[in-house]
Amino acid sequence: MPRFQQVTLCILYVRNARLFHALHLPAAWILDTHPHADHFSAAQYLKEKTGAPTAIGEQVVAVQRLWKDLYNWPEFAADGSQWDKLFVHGERFKLGALDVCVMFSPGHTLASITYVVGDAAFVHDTLFMPDGGTARADFPGGSAKALWASIQAILALPDDTRLFTGHDYQPGGREPRWESTVAQQKQANAHVVGLDEAAFVASREARDKTLSMPKLILHALQVNIRGGRLPEPESNGRRYLKVPLDALAGAAWAEEPA
Ligand SMILES: [Fe+2]
Repeated sequence: MPRFQQVTLCILYVRNARLFHALHLPAAWILDTHPHADHFSAAQYLKEKTGAPTAIGEQVVAVQRLWKDLYNWPEFAADGSQWDKLFVHGERFKLGALDVCVMFSPGHTLASITYVVGDAAFVHDTLFMPDGGTARADFPGGSAKALWASIQAILALPDDTRLFTGHDYQPGGREPRWESTVAQQKQANAHVVGLDEAAFVASREARDKTLSMPKLILHALQVNIRGGRLPEPESNGRRYLKVPLDALAGAAWAEEPA
């Protein structure tokens, strides 16, 4: 099997667990790029199904501290112990025969990391497809300035590096896409080309002011900062989520892209 086909199949697993099981492939790692704001992480579910270890960037601890305060959750261990491995910037590991390098790429969140696997980079919510621009940077702990620096580091990878993005909002109603190259992004990214840092930050922050919060952010973070674990059942056997009121001052709450 070609080397990168194996990686593609690993990604497929998240999208289609049945197909993955049908192919009888072992799972080596369950790799998070950042704590997500718009859906529950499946990391713990996948670990239970596969036995593979979970990992995320070490700065997840800063995200945990931030949300621990927002949820007023004193008993929560904000130490990253909910994952098996916390990667530091520049750390390398093997994925089968492939070499993987971890790049710290904050901005969208405090903890975001990119996985560079051979000639592919899994850039999550930094750059989207060139016509989709870039990810928002206004969640608690987000920073347009940090996002700019992270994007510059990704664009410093070789031009033919294949970039796999975390979301696609299908601008103009086109078909879904998820793969571009560094060269294509340098040539055509709608939020980056022709801008310097100051202009990008101004434009990103202005755009973010027009976006509503993902409607499930307060539900999702309390699960995702626990590595994808649901709350423990209470005495009646039911699980409960905690929803702090007015936690995100000034946020609008219609359904919008994350
Ligand atoms: Fe995200």
